[in-house]
Formats: sequence, structure tokens, C-alpha cells
Amino acid sequence: TSVLVLNGPNLNLLGTRKPEVYGTTTLADVEEMCRKTAAELGLEVVFRQSNHEGQLIDWIHEWGGEVKAGRSIGAVYNPGAHTHTSIALHDAIEGAELPVVECHISNVHRREEFRHHSFISPVAAGIIVGFGVHGYVLALRGLHQLAPAART
Ligand code: DQA
Repeated sequence: TSVLVLNGPNLNLLGTRKPEVYGTTTLADVEEMCRKTAAELGLEVVFRQSNHEGQLIDWIHEWGGEVKAGRSIGAVYNPGAHTHTSIALHDAIEGAELPVVECHISNVHRREEFRHHSFISPVAAGIIVGFGVHGYVLALRGLHQLAPAART
């Protein structure tokens, strides 16, 4: 059984981009952390990042199919700035009926006002915010915990 860990725009810059906010861990490090956690849970990670909204939408559609086919429990998703802008990604998750745990490295609620609203949260199974990159580990554990309910 697999789990998708999906990252949106600018997360390829993790480690060098605003380290005072996002830390110095790279996305490659996050991938390794996710693989380790997933292995403990008996899951296989598919790890993807894109800066392009359309690509992310296509992957969400694809992954809805994986879940429906019983091959995946869903996705951990850090949508980056698309969180605050994208109705298209909201609709993609809803349309694909993809179980998603929304994950943010920083506590978006103690940052700028424009980061306080999420288009993704209303279609997320759960949300992890403000625990740094450890949030991906928490999100994987949370999704795994939800999985039987999310599948029925
Ligand atoms: C982020 C928070 C977003 O507001 C921001 O645009 C990001 C990263 C986070 O992980 O804290 O790109 O999703």
C-alpha cells in the first residue's frame, strides 16, 4: 500500500528559502524522513513536487484512482502558496475524492493575514500546521490512523 507525499510551489527550495521560517532541512531530507516513517507504518512513499498547478491537479486525479483501486491510503499535501489561492486544487481533491492531510511547515496563522485562509482545508481529512518539517511525519501517522475510515 502506498501513500503520496505531494509538495507544491517553491518547496524545491526548502533548506535555503527563508531558513528562519522553514528551517535548513532540504526536501531530499524530508523525503528520507517520510520514507523512514512510512516504512514503520508498512507503507511505500511516492514523493513528488511541482511548481505547476496543472501538474499537481493531474497527480491528484491520478491518486484518487490509486485510492479507489485500493492501492493507496491517500496523500500528505503541502500546497505551498496554492493553499491561499487555488480553487482548482480544492476542486481537484474534492472531485478525485482523495483523502488528504494538509501539512504546513510554518504556523500560517501567526504569519501574514493572507496566509490565514486555506482553500484546501475544507476538503482535507486533517491539518498539520507549525511543527516544522516534523509535520510530514505527523501527517503520515495521522493519515495512516484515518485510513480505514477514509477508504469506506
Ligand atoms: C507553507 C506556508 C505557505 O503560506 C507558503 O506559501 C509556503 C509554505 C508552509 O509549509 O509553511 O510555500 O505551506
